[in-house]
Amino acid sequence: MTDPVSLNVTDIDIDAIAGAGGRVAVIVTPDGRMDQGARRANRLTRGALARMIEGGVIAKMKPGEVTSLAWPAGMKAEALDVLCLARNAKADDLRRAGVTLGKIKGEAGLLVLAGSVRQPADLMLGLLLRAYEFNTHKTEEAKPNGAVTCMVSKPEAIDVQAVQAIAEGVFFTRDLVSEPANHLTTSEFAARIEAMKKLGLKVTVLEEPELKKLGMGALLSVGHGSASPSKVAIMQWQGGDKGTAPLALVGKGVVFDTGGISLKPAAGMEEMTMDMGGAGVVAGVMRTLALRKARANVVGIVGLVENMPSDRATRPGDVVTSMKGDTIEVINTDAEGRLVLADILWYAQEKFAPSAMIDLATLTGAVIIGLGHENAGVFSNDDALCNKFLKAAGAEGEGAWRLPLGEAYDKKLKSRIADMQNVGGRPAGSITAAQFLQRFVKEGTPWIHLDIAGVALIKEDSPYAPKGATGWGVMALNRLITDQFEG
Ligand code: BES
Ligand code: MN
Ligand code: ZN
Repeated sequence: MTDPVSLNVTDIDIDAIAGAGGRVAVIVTPDGRMDQGARRANRLTRGALARMIEGGVIAKMKPGEVTSLAWPAGMKAEALDVLCLARNAKADDLRRAGVTLGKIKGEAGLLVLAGSVRQPADLMLGLLLRAYEFNTHKTEEAKPNGAVTCMVSKPEAIDVQAVQAIAEGVFFTRDLVSEPANHLTTSEFAARIEAMKKLGLKVTVLEEPELKKLGMGALLSVGHGSASPSKVAIMQWQGGDKGTAPLALVGKGVVFDTGGISLKPAAGMEEMTMDMGGAGVVAGVMRTLALRKARANVVGIVGLVENMPSDRATRPGDVVTSMKGDTIEVINTDAEGRLVLADILWYAQEKFAPSAMIDLATLTGAVIIGLGHENAGVFSNDDALCNKFLKAAGAEGEGAWRLPLGEAYDKKLKSRIADMQNVGGRPAGSITAAQFLQRFVKEGTPWIHLDIAGVALIKEDSPYAPKGATGWGVMALNRLITDQFEG
């Protein structure tokens, strides 16, 4: 996988500033006060920073912004990056500054003098998250990723492991989402999950014969047309009290979505390599939890299938039977994600009786029409849990917006010949999809559905990621677990 930049956190040594190669970053407050590191850089450069401040450059900068001086005289560095940050800078500003540093960070490494920052962890996280590139399939040798040294006043007070764990979880998700479908087959996905056993996760992979035995006719009907076998992978992290019901995270893992017999148009179909994004986030969160040894019980369950047209593929009009026992008329084979989720949501409840259940899926194009690429669609049967999630997402800068559920939407799923059909028409397409899922959520299970079709992969840079896979949701869920599920 793509490893985050290696990060050293050390005590302040301002004598290192003069001779550091690569880039050096120092901090000036919005009202033009230099901290210790900045003062030294100012002296070395014979007052370059003081002139910046007097010239009004800092006054024009927003908190978290960076102004760079190239080849500063008196220093060995190739650039001096001046960060505008208040002493009590908010997490947002710190992350933004980190993101900017991550973006401009070169091959020669970076030294950050963060002695005056109270919460340098956020600065570091922003830096790590932005310094990402998916170059697995470029034959040109990758540029070396210069190491980062962050000098802070209390190195021992920073949980570097937790920062690294988040970045690693997010990168794991991004790599999975970016990976093309001929490489990330259902088997390869399962193998990457199984490799996380060495982090202390308990991993089980259910193969087709077992899925048949369990009665997962809905999930199996999606993978039927593909040469790749359908699988369900289960990741368990038991860091909490024995006997405490786990939180269940459930993910749609369609490694490629052609639409099946209801074939998608050619234009843009290549994007459907990301249709396993929900499963990718679940795997990423589980990785983070294991790496930081979270004190919570969490189970991640992903349905890994490929939606292909073939002589064996499910036809429009076919009726399939879900694990729950309800029958489903498949009107459109391109509404496949809900078929996968129906069975693994039910399985999650039958097998683990979770205290709460959150599913993630690149479920509908309609959510992109409604919310664009700024917010995931959030649906829930539990206001308290939902508000906690929205708060966690807000704190992590991951856009999330709640949409309604209701009887009237549910009625759209009525089928003439089966218990339900898998589509509810064009209006409110994301809501009728969520209603479909809710039919597989037991009364009394607090549940959130996150439709991440618009946020999993973005064609422009997003706050913490260069264009491409974002890893949206790993941080929000990690925080929700930290705040609500760890004792
Ligand atoms: N995987 C797609 C949804 C999607 C669209 C994800 C664009 C990311 C970007 C999903 O399986 C799908 O095809 N949904 C259909 C549902 C329709 C047939 C009811 C859709 O949104 O068009
Ligand atoms: Mn589809
Ligand atoms: Zn899909």
